[in-house]
Amino acid sequence: MKEELKALQETAVREVAAARGEQELESLRIRYLGKKGLVTSCLRNVGQLAPEDRPGAGHAANKAKQVIRDALDARERELAAAGAAGTRLDITLPGRSFCLGRRHPLVLVTEQILSVFGMLGFEAVEGPEIETEYYNFEALNTPPDHPARDEQDSFDVDRDRGVLLRTQTSPVQIRVMERQKPPVRVVAPGRCFRRDTTDASHHPVFHQVEGLFVDRGVSFADLKGVLEVFSREMFGSRTRVRFRPDFFPFTEPSADMSISCFLCGGEGCRVCSRTGWLEILGSGMVDPNVFKAVGYDPEEVTGFAFGMGVERIAMLRYGIDDIRAFYENDVRLLRQF
Ligand code: DAH
Repeated sequence: MKEELKALQETAVREVAAARGEQELESLRIRYLGKKGLVTSCLRNVGQLAPEDRPGAGHAANKAKQVIRDALDARERELAAAGAAGTRLDITLPGRSFCLGRRHPLVLVTEQILSVFGMLGFEAVEGPEIETEYYNFEALNTPPDHPARDEQDSFDVDRDRGVLLRTQTSPVQIRVMERQKPPVRVVAPGRCFRRDTTDASHHPVFHQVEGLFVDRGVSFADLKGVLEVFSREMFGSRTRVRFRPDFFPFTEPSADMSISCFLCGGEGCRVCSRTGWLEILGSGMVDPNVFKAVGYDPEEVTGFAFGMGVERIAMLRYGIDDIRAFYENDVRLLRQF
């Protein structure tokens, strides 16, 4: 029996060393060491041997068992180590490159606008997109029956309470003046919402930058000076500006400002509809009623305000002829910025 066990042990060790996976190892363990395994049956038969042969055979069987168990454990560790090596980081593989995001053209233009006004001493501030009728209209000298409200059809959040999505960034003027004494010099960028039918130049969501300058002795000449500098910085040093009378409830007098067309230099082309001019913003001297609403004394201070559409300026700057392009997020457009 000793010979038999020795042969068994040798075959087992060889087979274990050649095993290629955990499953194979497990079936070898069962084959040799399992309850009905080859070594186990040998051990069980020891009792039937002649008494003098029993100790030797018992010893040989136990030894075979131990040797095979060690071989199984060793092979298991080997396989585990090889498996781990397979998942180790292979630094020779080329890296996965991923696309860097870019700033949206509207963000770029807003930043450019804020940066020019920043140089002129204007601080950037923000206000809520969900507003009350008071801030969006009333405090801006636009009572409920005012015809100017028809032009700014709003999305209501809570009609009974007069809560709506702001139709302009002008309410930020009121919020700033309510919490701060003059002098005030701010620009307020932000999203606005109007119930407009979407077309190439209208979108229910759009952006404005509002500006406000209040101090003692601010005049229309200051308004013109600041907005002229802004236009030259934004559209080039040869840009000329033109002011024409307009109407806004919160300014008196009011004016719209156009810049000379930077494409044709004022000669007249398709972009400026042959006029040589591009209208880019509304402006005016703050109406005394607005000052009264925020507790400023119109006898003490004066100021000017202006508001411009970011999409309009971005469309002019980048030659984009449809406002919807800003909201479609087509990567072929976005990639160009
Ligand atoms: N809020 C106006 C609009 O949406 C733009 C505007 C015009 C703002 C004149 C002003 C201003 O502050 O003085 O049409």
